[in-house]
Amino acid sequence: MYERKDAFYREAKARGLRSRAAFKLEDLDRRVLRPGDRVVDLGCWPGGWLQVAARRVGDRGRVVGVDLRRLDPLGLAAVRVIQGDVADPATLARVAEALEGPADVVLSDLSPQLSGIRERDEARATELVRLALSFVGRLLRPGGSLVCKIFMNADYPALLAETRSRFGEVTTARSQATRKGSAELYLIARGLRAAPLNSS
Ligand SMILES: C[S@@+](CC[C@H](N)C(=O)[O-])C[C@H]1O[C@@H](n2cnc3c(N)ncnc32)[C@H](O)[C@@H]1O
Repeated sequence: MYERKDAFYREAKARGLRSRAAFKLEDLDRRVLRPGDRVVDLGCWPGGWLQVAARRVGDRGRVVGVDLRRLDPLGLAAVRVIQGDVADPATLARVAEALEGPADVVLSDLSPQLSGIRERDEARATELVRLALSFVGRLLRPGGSLVCKIFMNADYPALLAETRSRFGEVTTARSQATRKGSAELYLIARGLRAAPLNSS
């Protein structure tokens, strides 16, 4: 059991942030997000990462969030929100349109709804990382960055290797705001390699 209303929760409320998860992005960002960037935020509800990203990219930037759940409007000029499933190709097309250009950064805090059946939950978590990587392949500019939630499970080494093959530099980090006992980590990947000419 964790204490739901912990210090991060109270601080988020005091600062008008939509979620305690906002602190994870503040913690992990490490100059990935820059003024003027175009950013995709996968699994954006209830909007804490959108708030942090919008502040970092400023008035000239654009942040496009996606979630299955409907988000109450944030009232931030840089932010566009799309309600949809990241597994649906139509969602990717809507994100591309709202971005109005190649993304500089893809963020993914996607988490599966837990069933309690370990194999099923791990497979779903892996599928969400793969979907984030497919957004990278379609929307991220060469040289761009990815911050992506990943879980320490049997698929972790393969997903890390796959990410390493696509980016110049990949590190992993655990946020101070991640709850004790959670297997959650984040991949911080920089320098997307240009796709080979014969890739589809
Ligand atoms: C941990 S929450 C994100 C919290 C968010 N980063 C914040 O700061 O407020 C994970 C989100 O992933 C979303 N999600 C899970 N599977 C999804 C899918 N297939 N398509 C879109 N969103 C999905 C869930 O609906 C959930 O809102």
